[in-house]
Amino acid sequence: MITLLVNGAEHALEVPGDMPLLWVLRDRLGLPGTKFGCGIGQCGACTVLLDGTPARSCVLPVSAVAGRPVTTIEAWGDGSDVTTLHPVQQAWIEGSVAQCGYCQSAQILTAVALLAEDPDPDDAAIDRALGGVLCRCGTYPAIRRAVRRAA
Ligand code: FES
Ligand code: FES
Repeated sequence: MITLLVNGAEHALEVPGDMPLLWVLRDRLGLPGTKFGCGIGQCGACTVLLDGTPARSCVLPVSAVAGRPVTTIEAWGDGSDVTTLHPVQQAWIEGSVAQCGYCQSAQILTAVALLAEDPDPDDAAIDRALGGVLCRCGTYPAIRRAVRRAA
């Protein structure tokens, strides 16, 4: 039995300790906002926040995160009520950042972590923080603008 703390809620789960956190989030907890891309820690699509820091959930055994706070995109609003949106989500909407959307939960979570550490990042800092989350739609210029707007 492993106890997970996801978006402030505790979940006691019977899962193998070596199951990737991504599988548990999507298939056991029904949180599909975290995406599967490469599965080998390279693309960043599966990024969640672990103790407030971006982490790649496809290569993270669930046993390593027991009892530690995990944040997924579902921690905040889904758009149906703008008052529940995180300011970074609001900036994303105002800047029409998303294209296909596949990488965007990872981009937003990484931006949240960046702004917690550096409340006024320049373009170089934004690129350093978010460049590792691959976006095949090329939304990086819009991401830079949205991060500055959120800041
Ligand atoms: Fe995890 Fe690509 S799916 S880094
Ligand atoms: Fe399509 Fe980033 S918005 S992959």
